[in-house]
Amino acid sequence: MPGVFNLSVDEAVKEARETYSLGVPAVILFGLPEKKDEVATGAWADDGIVQQTTRAIKREVPNLIILGDVCLCEYMSHGHCGVVRPASGAQSLGAAVAAPGAAVTDYEIVNDATLELLARTSVSLARAGVDIIAPSDMMDGRVAAIRKALDEARLTNTPILSYAAKFASGFYGPFREAADSAPQFGDRRSYQMDPANLREAMREIELDIEEGADMIMIKPAMPYLDVIAAARERVDVPLAAYQVSGEYAMIEAAARNNWIDRDRVMMESLLSIRRAGASIILTYYAKDAARLLS
Ligand code: PBG
Ligand code: ZN
Repeated sequence: MPGVFNLSVDEAVKEARETYSLGVPAVILFGLPEKKDEVATGAWADDGIVQQTTRAIKREVPNLIILGDVCLCEYMSHGHCGVVRPASGAQSLGAAVAAPGAAVTDYEIVNDATLELLARTSVSLARAGVDIIAPSDMMDGRVAAIRKALDEARLTNTPILSYAAKFASGFYGPFREAADSAPQFGDRRSYQMDPANLREAMREIELDIEEGADMIMIKPAMPYLDVIAAARERVDVPLAAYQVSGEYAMIEAAARNNWIDRDRVMMESLLSIRRAGASIILTYYAKDAARLLS
């Protein structure tokens, strides 16, 4: 991703300080663990990279709001957002994941085993100081499972911003490369949403709110402005939109070729997301936009 880097803990603290001083109220952290496995240990370990970074940022920049992206794909050796097993019900988990790159078609994502790991991850992140839990995995029932786990850990005041409508999108390409989290076999279409289906998106949003989401997110943003607008009409919780890596990369590539005026198109893209109804925008342009707005 042009202009976007993986940071060490120290560098992330510096970045957080600069970001906050520019007037950006919040950041979201994604982790790239040293080791990946089949139970996403790096996601929920108390010394996980996001947990460590959160503690360090909170120490130095206490007023910067930290969102924790809750998903397992960056921490799974197979790159899926949930626990994987062979669909046949055959013996070992290993069978489906033993040969990365192989065209394994007979696997399935184990929804409920995944919920347990997502809940564990959420509690661990909140304990480390994450202010807002943002699940992006798209398993069924995860908001309820996470809410229950947070409440049981007496983290009742930690809100959930659910990626309620996250579409199976080609626009995540640059992120997956940066996070080394592309699925090693299959794709995410069994758990992410059908880009063609607006009604299903509305249903997912309503379900997440029923399960206890305090805020919801639509992702990607610009190719889905109609979804943002429809959600704005329909629900009253704060609405976020995520201008994802591919949206950002397209603008950057065109700007680097002098095909478009970068700053103008950047601001216009953010304005369109705002106009559609999002009150919170996640964007790789946060610092640049803040500079232009100040
Ligand atoms: C993890 C996750 C992804 C993104 C955010 N969280 C990748 C994916 O679902 O494949 C994409 C972010 C971006 O493209 O900027 N589930
Ligand atoms: Zn994921």
